[in-house]
Amino acid sequence: MTQNWRPATQLVHGGTLRSQYGETSEAIYLTQGFVYETAEAAEARFKGESEGFIYARYGSPTNDMFEKRMCMLEGAEEARATASGMAAVAAAILCQLKSGDHIVAARALFGSCRWVVETLAPKYGIECTLVDGRSLENWEKAIRKSTKVFFLESPTNPTLEVIDIAGVAKLANQIGARVVVDNVFATPLFQKPLELGAHIVVYSATKHIDGQGRCLGGVVLSDSEWVAEHLQDYFRHTGPAMSPFNAWTLLKGIETLPLRVRQQTESAAKIADFLADQKKVARVIYPGRADHPQADIIAKQMTGGSTLVCLELKGGKEAAFALQNALEVVKISNNLGDAKSLITHPATTTHKNLTDEARAELGISAGTLRLSAGIEDSQDLLEDFARALEKVPA
Ligand SMILES: Cc1ncc(COP(=O)(O)O)c(C=O)c1O
Repeated sequence: MTQNWRPATQLVHGGTLRSQYGETSEAIYLTQGFVYETAEAAEARFKGESEGFIYARYGSPTNDMFEKRMCMLEGAEEARATASGMAAVAAAILCQLKSGDHIVAARALFGSCRWVVETLAPKYGIECTLVDGRSLENWEKAIRKSTKVFFLESPTNPTLEVIDIAGVAKLANQIGARVVVDNVFATPLFQKPLELGAHIVVYSATKHIDGQGRCLGGVVLSDSEWVAEHLQDYFRHTGPAMSPFNAWTLLKGIETLPLRVRQQTESAAKIADFLADQKKVARVIYPGRADHPQADIIAKQMTGGSTLVCLELKGGKEAAFALQNALEVVKISNNLGDAKSLITHPATTTHKNLTDEARAELGISAGTLRLSAGIEDSQDLLEDFARALEKVPA
């Protein structure tokens, strides 16, 4: 029955475990461990012969509710909640690889994700090839006998490039490799990587899932076989587990995910259209617009636009800084997915560690800004941009 619920219902009720008190809101089980009635019960639990929790690093009731709710939404069999999005990304990639294996990853990745595959993995003998993920030919050309993992995010941060997930999954299946998708920008509402053929999905729950700027979190989702074979032991023994308090906060956040994302996307679309008509704006990239360079792939794999807008100002850094400083409702922050509208200048913040050449390859110029639309009134946001643009030098 619960499997037939629509997402908005799953996100309010999915996975709920009620204690003997019958509480309405999910309880926070802030405990490190669990007690057993008898020594025999402890033995059976450790042998895996009886159901139940063992130690909070392995799993605990509040985290279990969050994981089950995420599984329902994503259509996954198993999930593990992690302390941050980066803990989820690192676990999903590293748990299944060994020295001598090879990763093919899209070069347009969030900076820390790129560090994991480009800098950390090679320290352990795992090689990585970065490709322009927009063309399937590039993925195919990078394949080696030792390729085990394909890694991508789509849409990408910050230029909202899109990668054909089903196409990459087809290539991976031909060689028995697995596709890991960081689905943060699309949100679980607008894109279902597992349905498109990906094998593992990761989220920074810090973003839209919390959506109110409170706590860090992450989640890895896949099928039971992969979790048992690869993730389970890595997760238990390296300890990236989420705090139950954060799992509770995220359970509360996720209840309102569809309401927030709908409002944020509506505002983002209006702002993108408004900015596209402004003389001081060189370019607007928005997955919901017909002029997005990969509108055909978006139509194939996404069911909504985005809460994010990428824009490039003609006046470079000076104009980008002037616009940020003149905005009043929209705040300057490198975070995203928040109830508050946030704007960032990738070249001097999130992507400052890349070389000029790498930034240019990704289409990030001195005039590029990334907006994460919040849940404020759309009209106030439009007026904020109109007012702030007047202060940008021509
Ligand atoms: C696409 C993407 N993946 C992963 C992360 C990492 O998430 P966290 O900050 O929760 O570790 C972020 C943002 O920080 C992100 O934007």
